[in-house]
Amino acid sequence: MEFTDVVANRRSTRAFETQPVAAEIIERVFSLGLKAPSNCNTQPWYVHIASGAKIELLRSMLPEKFMAGQLHLDYPYDGVYEGEFKVRQYAAAQALYDSLNIAREDKVKRHEAFMRNFTFFDAPHVAFFYLPAEFGLREACDLGMFAQTVMLGLVNEGLGSCPQTALGFHAGTIKETLGIPDDRKLMFGLSFGYPKQEEPVNQCVTDRALFSDLVTLHDR
Ligand SMILES: Cc1cc2nc3c(=O)[nH]c(=O)nc-3n(C[C@H](O)[C@H](O)[C@H](O)COP(=O)(O)O)c2cc1C
Repeated sequence: MEFTDVVANRRSTRAFETQPVAAEIIERVFSLGLKAPSNCNTQPWYVHIASGAKIELLRSMLPEKFMAGQLHLDYPYDGVYEGEFKVRQYAAAQALYDSLNIAREDKVKRHEAFMRNFTFFDAPHVAFFYLPAEFGLREACDLGMFAQTVMLGLVNEGLGSCPQTALGFHAGTIKETLGIPDDRKLMFGLSFGYPKQEEPVNQCVTDRALFSDLVTLHDR
């Protein structure tokens, strides 16, 4: 695919076919992702990909754990959005609910839609993105660049993905279930697979601020 088409076609996929992705495609995409830049080329990232019996085990556990309040986060969920950021957050949520035909005041349906995070939107694979425990903000930027490169690589293979901070609520359960060492901290998960193209939720398109609002040119 053309680079511009890859970028333009990436969007968060929230309904997947159950058909697994071939192991060689997964290896190709994540190997390409490893080309991402990082500060001093430290490559401060680990990825753990759950598929097959392991993802099914997680799928069977996470919703119940969430409802029981059995949560363990490696990083606090402390973002508070105000002003223009709150406006954008609201618009993104509205676009999602509109695609699902959920009224804003319908808390039950909104909750159901949110809970689909914990069954990975039926995806056959989920990748968990970890930082070595001793690192912080600077290395988190590296991790984000790596994840975006992976997401674009997935699009290039006809695949879709959804980055999910929500999966961070279950850092403890995921670590225990997959046997991940304690010196790795979970930043977010990424459900991926073949998108259900016709599914209304996958028609959800978010808008973007203008170049002139966010990019300042200093040239004189
Ligand atoms: C780090 C990160 C975490 C996210 N967490 C979630 C999440 O937990 N659940 C979800 O449905 N979408 C999540 N998203 C998707 C965003 O809502 C989405 O990227 C944004 O609304 C823009 O839409 P687009 O990805 O379709 O372009 C996350 C995105 C990023 C980059």
